[in-house]
Amino acid sequence: MKHSAKQLFSISVPRKLLNKKSPVAIFDSGVGGLTVAKRLHSLMPGEKIVYFGDTARVPYGTKSHQIIKQYAIQIASFLVNFNPKIIIIACHSVSSLGKTFLEKKFRDFVFFDVIQPSAEEAVKVTRNKKIGVIGTPATISSNSYPSIIKKIDNNVEVYQKACPLLVPLVEEGWIDSDVADIIVKQYIQELLDSKIDTLVLGCTHYPLLKKTIKKITGPAITLVDASEATSRTVKEFLVSYGLLNSRMPKPPVLYFSDFPEYRRKIMSKFWNEKNLIIKKVNIEGRYNV
Ligand code: DGL
Repeated sequence: MKHSAKQLFSISVPRKLLNKKSPVAIFDSGVGGLTVAKRLHSLMPGEKIVYFGDTARVPYGTKSHQIIKQYAIQIASFLVNFNPKIIIIACHSVSSLGKTFLEKKFRDFVFFDVIQPSAEEAVKVTRNKKIGVIGTPATISSNSYPSIIKKIDNNVEVYQKACPLLVPLVEEGWIDSDVADIIVKQYIQELLDSKIDTLVLGCTHYPLLKKTIKKITGPAITLVDASEATSRTVKEFLVSYGLLNSRMPKPPVLYFSDFPEYRRKIMSKFWNEKNLIIKKVNIEGRYNV
């Protein structure tokens, strides 16, 4: 049976945003959300991407829910100036607080989070119904993954582990290193002992550590990457609403709240594309909430 766009997404898109030429806005606490932006760009090259990474205040995952909400509102206040057709919360630590607080404050805009698509994907791929989730302390303590997964299939068991050291490791570009091997092993061993067959990378920074994680989990465990699941969902949405922009590819514009010169060198580890436009913007002074 074919579902209508409304049945699939239960979203009513404000009329004025029904413009396929508008950009797709994506944000994260730092460079992790680039995994989503990059995947989206390769899946939908005609989309204009405006990215914001809050590198001045990363990490979010070790901060209180109240501060994370406040930061997310500041970021959205900046991004709505681009009149984006959708805003992707490419950060699990923000997504884990639910997107309602953003939807209520920015009523004219459509938000997508990274948790729902990843949870659905995990339930789809698990065979033994034992799913592991790794994420920041904020994401894990919110219990978002277990509650969303249980709503989809109550028979699934979810094992979670907070991994606070992984975000700083990725931000510094220590992706393929012995240190990463040791830390990842230390974090995920207890999930492997629980005989999970699926592991959700519940932080958008973690796909950058995929090689290391795969080395430790071995080939039998399926990794669920939010960038894949979210980009597919977003594409389905844009197609359903006739909002997909298939024009000439535009270089993504990446805004960061801080970008010290030395980061330019490690940027290629996150997104090795010559045409990226990188800008620095101070949102804290301009968008106080
Ligand atoms: N990429 C963010 C996430 O998905 C990292 C949060 C943080 O800055 O700790 O949760």
